[in-house]
Amino acid sequence: APSVLFDNHGRPLEYLRLAVTDRCNLRCFYCMPEEGIKYMPKQELLTYEEMERLVGLLTGLGVRKVRLTGGEPFVRRDLVPFMARLTAIPGLDDLSLTTNGVLTAPYVPELARLGVKAVNLSLDTLDRARFASITRRDELPRVLDTFYALLASGIQVKINAVVMDGQNIEDLVPLAELTRELPVEVRFIEEMPFNGGSHAATLPWDHCRIRQHLEAHLGEFVPVATPAGATASEYSIAGHQGRIGIIAAYSRTFCGTCNRIRLTAEGGLKTCLYDQGVLDVRALLRGGSTDEEVAEALKSAFRYRAANGFEAEQRRPVHQLSFESMSTIGG
Ligand code: GTP
Ligand code: 5AD
Ligand code: SF4
Repeated sequence: APSVLFDNHGRPLEYLRLAVTDRCNLRCFYCMPEEGIKYMPKQELLTYEEMERLVGLLTGLGVRKVRLTGGEPFVRRDLVPFMARLTAIPGLDDLSLTTNGVLTAPYVPELARLGVKAVNLSLDTLDRARFASITRRDELPRVLDTFYALLASGIQVKINAVVMDGQNIEDLVPLAELTRELPVEVRFIEEMPFNGGSHAATLPWDHCRIRQHLEAHLGEFVPVATPAGATASEYSIAGHQGRIGIIAAYSRTFCGTCNRIRLTAEGGLKTCLYDQGVLDVRALLRGGSTDEEVAEALKSAFRYRAANGFEAEQRRPVHQLSFESMSTIGG
């Protein structure tokens, strides 16, 4: 197996987040305006063949894990056959995805057959009315179908709940209570202001307050070890089957071990969630570059990586990609 590539700050490159589409069938208010965003024309998206080639090149550089994101991955046609092709790439040990669960339930048995070990499910509330108001779509029942299908399949589930002041604070304890009887991880995420990457001055619910609030209701959190490069701090609670995770997405406590790169649906490479795109990979692929040339370009981008999200924000964009919403980037 090829050795892992290290960046200019000594962090390994092991994990690719691949956005397969910028489209979404929900309209979470923290992510998109009601009317949606201006979607990219189809020919601007990477084709599955282009993505497969890139994943092959990146596993050759040491990438071991690919997470498919969106938008909502299942909005793109033929996602599962594409995933089947990815599983055939040597060196790719871990294929997973992040989904909102609206369309996912019928595909769960196929995901299990493909060997998908874990699925991250975005779910901010268990209350149907609040779900409809947060996502602007009345789809909680279908999301819960996905949740139960995943539990039944043996695929590991992580629920992602964004903590939003004035929106779903009453939902935090009921969501966390799922871990009492079920072997799931429920992860609470600091809300990231996403108006073009700018950073609001204060965050009412930071990771410390989230933890204090939950501990007051559920009892003491016992920290558990997480793999290097994890975004979540994880905790167990006495008597609970599942785990709690807290992701300091706004405070960015995990930049020092960040092992991930991103590809947007239009083929822009990002070496940080907060950079504006450091390489136009689609242009290389469509311009006839050889595998060696594309691999070299990827390596150089990774050797000129910002130390953290704050530095990445300061840098001048090399290639201006369109980031109107989290949906374009895939989180
Ligand atoms: P695992 O592979 O299970 O560790 O998942 P993950 O936490 O990397 O991915 P997921 O798609 O479930 O995202 C969870 C939350 O973490 C989302 O809100 C992401 O936007 C956020 N997140 C993921 N990576 C980064 C990052 O590099 N920086 C910041 N600030 N947030 C991130
Ligand atoms: N802040 C924090 N998390 C967000 N997500 C989307 N937008 C934001 C935001 N502004 C989360 C989704 C999904 C993950 C990929 O990113 O809830 O779980
Ligand atoms: Fe919500 Fe994710 Fe869709 Fe954005 S991409 S609207 S966060 S489900």
